[in-house]
Amino acid sequence: MEPYSPGKPISEVQRELGLGRVVKLASNENPLGPSPAAIAAVRAAAEEMHLYPDASAYALRKAISERFDMPMETIFVGNGSDELIHMLGLLFLDSPNDEMIVGDPSFVRYDAAAQLAPAKLIKVPLDANYRHDLPAMARAASEHTKLIFIANPNNPTGTIVRRGDFDRFLADLPPQATVVLDEAYFEFASEDPEYPVSIDYVRAGKPVIGLRTFSKTYGLAGIRIGYGFASAEIFDAFNRAREPFNANALAQAAAIAALGDVDHITATVENNRRGMARMVEALTRLGSTPCESHGNFVFADLHRPAQPVFRALLERGVIVRSGEVFGTPTCIRVSVGTDDEVEAFVEAIEAVLKEPVTL
Ligand SMILES: Cc1ncc(COP(=O)(O)O)c(C=O)c1O
Repeated sequence: MEPYSPGKPISEVQRELGLGRVVKLASNENPLGPSPAAIAAVRAAAEEMHLYPDASAYALRKAISERFDMPMETIFVGNGSDELIHMLGLLFLDSPNDEMIVGDPSFVRYDAAAQLAPAKLIKVPLDANYRHDLPAMARAASEHTKLIFIANPNNPTGTIVRRGDFDRFLADLPPQATVVLDEAYFEFASEDPEYPVSIDYVRAGKPVIGLRTFSKTYGLAGIRIGYGFASAEIFDAFNRAREPFNANALAQAAAIAALGDVDHITATVENNRRGMARMVEALTRLGSTPCESHGNFVFADLHRPAQPVFRALLERGVIVRSGEVFGTPTCIRVSVGTDDEVEAFVEAIEAVLKEPVTL
């Protein structure tokens, strides 16, 4: 297994390159920070951190249930959606003959879920527009396929699958296969009228699990809390297998407060729309090809090796993700920042892409 390679931390870049201001646009975090209500809730909950958390996360699951109008017995929570991905691998894959299908490139922690189970991992390349190739994924499915992960929007490309295509895909799958729709970037993507929302499928009894997180729109990546929707049967299996206190007390308090702060979510989505438009405009003008992104990041083909561009941006104090880790060495992924951070990126990429190509 490859160890997870996280975005470079700001302090490391400052130390290595002797830089003052460094802008990190590498991990799809919320550039506006957490909701002030979540900060207050964590402060209050800290008074009681000598007590174990509520193992059933009752108040948080109730808040999610009310917000999305789903029964509490379909809602599970965990230590970030990373933990939920890992747990689904353990629950569904129980023999090396079992198969799990993912897009390529897609979110790397899916691979780990299959490798740890262990099960056979089948990676199906994205199509020419960097979208999940659903017909090819359906063709790759067999009587051994247990799980299929679809990040919607996909990380790193930001592309989405749409309802009509997804419905056809579901109809083509063998009966024992379950599809996980990972909606980590749900709040950014769900404005698209053709976006297939996982809970509609869970409600309809389809073999679909929805995963979401508080790490992105809600700005709680550091405290680790994610959630998901599944049939009552899967919820029951998850409950038996999980660690009893897999959602810590501070995270539960923060998530309840963040869920209630609608203004913060609206401001986050609005900031993202503005920043995304500016970044896409600049990247296109500079001759690169950005994907149509529905997340809080842009994936662009620079049509030249990305690693020297990544280094040159770093020297200008801007951290992005270079495409080698995704198997796309001419691409970069850049998270949308605040207006200031977006301008810092645009200024830096304008300067870097005007320089002659250095190999
Ligand atoms: C598609 C996708 N799923 C899951 C995650 C993990 O999120 P969490 O912080 O909830 O573990 C990420 C984080 O980047 C992601 O992009």
